[in-house]
Amino acid sequence: MNELLKDIPDKRVEKNTTSHKFKQDLINYLGEDFKEKNCLEIGTHKGYTARILSSFFKNVITCEVNQQLWDMAKKINHDKNNIDFLLKDVYNTVWDFKNIDVVFIDCDHHIDAVLMDIQNAINLTQVNQELIIIFDDYGLDNPWHGVKEAINKCIELEPRFKIKKFIGEIKGYEYKSDHYLKEREGVICSFKNTPLQKFYRIFDNELHTAHETAQLGFEIEEGLRIPDEYLNNQEFLIMRTCHGIGDWGIISAMPRLLKQKYPNCKVYVPSKKLLNKYFGISHENVNVVFKNNPYVDAFIDDNKGEVFHDHYRIFDKNNSDVPLLKQILEFWQFSDDEIKDIQPEIYWTHDEINLGNNIIEEHVGEREFGALLISDKFGTQFGKFHQESYDRDVKNFDKILKKNTLPYFYYSSCPLKETPFDYIEKALDLRHIDLRIQLYIKSKAKINISNQCGTSQIVVRYSDCIAIQRQFPMGSNIVEGESYL
Ligand SMILES: C[S@@+](CC[C@H](N)C(=O)[O-])C[C@H]1O[C@@H](n2cnc3c(N)ncnc32)[C@H](O)[C@@H]1O
Repeated sequence: MNELLKDIPDKRVEKNTTSHKFKQDLINYLGEDFKEKNCLEIGTHKGYTARILSSFFKNVITCEVNQQLWDMAKKINHDKNNIDFLLKDVYNTVWDFKNIDVVFIDCDHHIDAVLMDIQNAINLTQVNQELIIIFDDYGLDNPWHGVKEAINKCIELEPRFKIKKFIGEIKGYEYKSDHYLKEREGVICSFKNTPLQKFYRIFDNELHTAHETAQLGFEIEEGLRIPDEYLNNQEFLIMRTCHGIGDWGIISAMPRLLKQKYPNCKVYVPSKKLLNKYFGISHENVNVVFKNNPYVDAFIDDNKGEVFHDHYRIFDKNNSDVPLLKQILEFWQFSDDEIKDIQPEIYWTHDEINLGNNIIEEHVGEREFGALLISDKFGTQFGKFHQESYDRDVKNFDKILKKNTLPYFYYSSCPLKETPFDYIEKALDLRHIDLRIQLYIKSKAKINISNQCGTSQIVVRYSDCIAIQRQFPMGSNIVEGESYL
């Protein structure tokens, strides 16, 4: 038996505390990972679990309403100096705790009380914080609706609340005479305070918010796929709800893939007018990406019925780095075999190719060349300048540029002179050149060096693209073949 459990009674002896198995599983889960973190326990009783927790957290705050138990818990833990014992009625006072990383809920086990505990715990979180919430007595055979029911309700109502792991004694364990657990004794859950995203529905030319969600798309197991009737109709509109050049670029292989699967289908993309109708904004990016694409039948101004846009996708909850197009095609009932060759693609006209070749020849002749892109996101984190990222990005760029001494076509958000990379051999500043011609030139480069940016991702099929990663994880923006630093 673990030394820490030696003087602590098991649940069979002291029915109000957690079992030895629960405490041991908790010890294994916490390990060394929480040594700098703080835990809040709701329901101290005699402080047996608080005692264990105190060895794995920087500080433990524990709340008890009963004065006698509060006294007893303090006495039992007299040798501990990192536990704050609060004599507090948790249902009739404010939870004004700060910097809590883990909440252990083990108080009143009626569903309404547990739901109140969960809500109070969630309210303690900062934006983007992941809070761990541990529950005892999940599997208790209560005559009333209890912990399990509260957790289930929470999962149903709050997409950011998830079960992570079950712990403690197993189903069937006799926790007191003639009473058996109907489920595992305890459960570890998490709540990530990420801002919710709107799931759009676009129907008969109107955009509505259908619901809010922590993650756009559907889990594989939900079994939701595009309706057969829509596919049978063979008239497909491709739509994104984001508007950057890269946002459209990463799904640019979709028209070809649709035509390969359904040779007689019609593939449409939205005109500027239709985008304006749905989103109230107007841009050229769909045109830049799909102009001259032989698999696009038309740019359309109007669409009746449902639009299966990029929110309709199948995500893998165990792997966030799955290219968006793969996720969309899975929703569109493509098999794994059919989801191949999904890198972005562009079809330039003869005139564009001639113009691009002339520019290349004029500035570098027959020589190999590179393309360098420094966007306004260089050296930033969450939209703000970040010295550490800047230093790291400069070091990475330097390393590749020095290894690849070539003339460079370049695009920089501020004059190249004001960047640390003015030493490169300059072919031409691309800034004032038509975007499709820029993309053509980039596609012919031996290497594209950039900070993570859509205009480099689009040419990954044609050129070696090395990008400094700015999003962690990359998520659905990942493009196969791009190298990330
Ligand atoms: C199941 S016991 C806690 C056991 C403890 N967590 C452990 O593992 O050893 C629940 C405790 O919650 C306390 N409690 C009940 N209602 C409360 C309230 N409104 N505020 C604070 N504590 C309360 C009870 O007095 C009881 O000691």
